[in-house]
Amino acid sequence: MPQTYETLLLEQRDRVAIVTINRPEKRNALNIKTREEGAALLEELRNDSSVGVVVFTGAGDKAFIAGADIAEFAGRTSITQREVMMGRSLFTAVDTFPKPVIAMINGFCLGGGCELALACDIRIASENAQFGQPEINLGIIPGGGGTQRLTRLVGEGKAMEMILTGQFVDAKTAHAIGLVNHVVPADQLEAKTMEIAQTMARKSQIALQLAKEAVKIASRSNLDEGLRREVDLFALCFSTEDKDEGVSAFLERRDPVFKGR
Ligand code: COA
Repeated sequence: MPQTYETLLLEQRDRVAIVTINRPEKRNALNIKTREEGAALLEELRNDSSVGVVVFTGAGDKAFIAGADIAEFAGRTSITQREVMMGRSLFTAVDTFPKPVIAMINGFCLGGGCELALACDIRIASENAQFGQPEINLGIIPGGGGTQRLTRLVGEGKAMEMILTGQFVDAKTAHAIGLVNHVVPADQLEAKTMEIAQTMARKSQIALQLAKEAVKIASRSNLDEGLRREVDLFALCFSTEDKDEGVSAFLERRDPVFKGR
């Protein structure tokens, strides 16, 4: 029996699961409950073979996620905060998820929301989306991977500017600096996201997982190490039925039917 979640909505379309952070009255701010539920839901989806791709989005038309729930910061000690962050991390759960994860960004994408989007594999934004790491305005710094993942994605100069000024950038700018993959009008956001998600969902589940692993090694090791690991992962594909099916289908001029084996 699937678990039910207080702060999340789950919908499945074919092999694509859409996870909606459902606190629109708080601009989908991430409180402890949402983070815990998000990590638990990902654990469920990881083991669900009917799900090939996960899409994260926010409820309502104003925000993807407006950051950590600031109300929870009030009066919190550093020890308690550390304990909260050392627990099961939603950002790590997204980062290490073996299937593709897409952020469908429908509005404010700030602080922990921007960090969640950064932990995803790709980001698709509506024209009205706004991005920022405004922690500096609260006298703190990003703590969910923002200083690391944003810097790797857009480069040190742009990351420094966003993190040190706390100012927001619009969707067009986010696209220009490589923070998002696509920007589309709000009424086309879902269609564009689903088109990309469904394209991925048709591929071999094993190849997707190994491809993700290989790409992620690129920003976590040096080139020689990365190239060596790529060869190992490439060779591993040759042990799968999906590789035989993909090659046969090409030679027989038909579409492949992958089974994730
Ligand atoms: N944490 C907790 N509550 C938040 C929140 C956050 N990160 N972001 C928004 N909210 C709450 C507001 O307190 C308000 O609650 P209320 O109606 O009970 O007073 C509600 O969401 C709506 O916010 P509001 O500011 O009125 O909406 P807006 O559309 O005018 O502005 C934002 C939206 C996102 C620009 C603005 O709310 C904001 O700056 N939020 C904080 C962003 C931030 O600093 N994030 C990083 C946290 S580390």
